Amino acid sequence: MNKNYYITTPIYYPSAKPHMGHAYSSIIADFLARFKRIDGFNVYFLTGTDEHGLKIQRAAENDNVDTLKFCDKISQTFKDLSKTLNLTNTDFIRTTEKRHKDSVQHLWKELVKNEDIYLSKYSGWYSVSDEAFYNEDEIFEENGVKIAKISKSPVEWMDEESFFFRLSKWQEPLLKFYNENPNFIQPESRKNEVISFVKSGLKDLSVSRKSFSWGIKVPNNDKHVIYVWLDALTNYISALNYPNTNNDLFKKFWPASIHLIGKDILRFHAIYWPAFLMAAKIELPKRVYGHGWILSGDEKMSKSKGNILDPIEIINKYGLDPLRYYLVKEVSFGNDGNISQEKLEDCINSDLANNYGNLCQRTISFAVKNCSQKIPKKINFNNEDLKILDSFTSNIDKIRAEIDKQNINFYIEFIINALFATNKYFNDQEPWKKKDDEIRLNTIVYTTLEMIRKITFMLYPIIPDTSLKVLKIFDLKDKDIVFSSISKHDFLKLDSDINPIDILFKKIEKKDD
Ligand code: ME8
Ligand code: MG
Repeated sequence: MNKNYYITTPIYYPSAKPHMGHAYSSIIADFLARFKRIDGFNVYFLTGTDEHGLKIQRAAENDNVDTLKFCDKISQTFKDLSKTLNLTNTDFIRTTEKRHKDSVQHLWKELVKNEDIYLSKYSGWYSVSDEAFYNEDEIFEENGVKIAKISKSPVEWMDEESFFFRLSKWQEPLLKFYNENPNFIQPESRKNEVISFVKSGLKDLSVSRKSFSWGIKVPNNDKHVIYVWLDALTNYISALNYPNTNNDLFKKFWPASIHLIGKDILRFHAIYWPAFLMAAKIELPKRVYGHGWILSGDEKMSKSKGNILDPIEIINKYGLDPLRYYLVKEVSFGNDGNISQEKLEDCINSDLANNYGNLCQRTISFAVKNCSQKIPKKINFNNEDLKILDSFTSNIDKIRAEIDKQNINFYIEFIINALFATNKYFNDQEPWKKKDDEIRLNTIVYTTLEMIRKITFMLYPIIPDTSLKVLKIFDLKDKDIVFSSISKHDFLKLDSDINPIDILFKKIEKKDD
């Protein structure tokens, strides 16, 4: 079985500082990366910034600074955010790096070699904000401004000499590929959109620009720069040292296990990227997952709309783990979702403080008082104990399978149910009434502690800092977190010390309480 896992986020435009939408994709990717790691996989996790193109050039001009200096500065804020979000990315790629430029130019030459590139002229609509071309039927007019239907961003007319990629030639091979790899595009609903778009007919794609210079030069023709999407998509292989496909990284991690992206850029990843790769005779990634949008009101949260929530502000106010938990839980994965501080506060109070925090706190203080602050040693499981412990054992393969479908909702619901069940178990067993029956009291405490341990292992990919805090109770560290051990009932060492912990989550007082 292939135990290598390569996951990528989009590389973000450093045209303005990061917002909650970027944090969202990155946190979900980090969750998947961490899960795979505790399940024994060798994980390569890539993120970075997409620094070329007219959008960035104009943003720098607007600020009156040198374009590269502009990118350096904003790219750094994305790098800093990766640290703030506690991401475990293996690499951070910038498309202005030499390794990437070499890689893109090499890929271009491969496309030329395969006769997939020709010189012609492009006349049509272009959105600088999306860095995308639109057909006449994909735009509408509002107050005299032409706007792309799909993104609501303004388009401008473009008319210039351009190199083209023979995308039309790849229409049938793409359809065949989708058909043979039914899970390549996920979720299902998005896959159907892509397929019908491809079926409606692919036109050749303009892949170079002559009217500005901020980009990677077309080999042997430095009047043209390479289209920013051909440039950007290549980052996924540049990071693995392409064109050197014989190196360890490339051999281990290509094809990617998953490109995690927002649905706004599905077309680029599910149509253009596979077509470029086919043309260059490179294997195709195994999955492209286009998640939904974080909305603010009814609209997509985006810098151009100015309706953004700043992740740093939220983290300063509530802490990182509450935000990570909230984003993973609240936005039904795959769909759009509205987020608000109000709902974040409710989530902290109910799930984190009441459900999880309380369970840990009350069990520990009970054990401290009644089990001499040690993990009980004399235990004898009855059917009820085994039943709750087994809920993990019997679901371990199911959890893995759902994660491999990016069914994050299943994962989080599983945890929430386990928390409810454990709280209920502790209440129903009434250990405080068992002071004359040492073995029974000990067994209830041990079972509850094992449940906390299992739940905390599963929470680790979502709220790593808090989970490590909880695991200190048992003197466990991150290297001890092994997913498969959630099936064990006797993981905790009998008779070892229990270390008390501080309050995990403070309840937030709500104005109307
Ligand atoms: O498109 N909700 O960069 P970008 C959820 N450079 N996710 C969101 C979001 C929202 N409201 N807003 C942004 C680009 N995102 C290109 C990508 S990849 C080779 C090049 C996330 O800065 C989501 O992942 O516009 C979306 O696809 C991405 O940020 C777009 O970031
Ligand atoms: Mg965008």
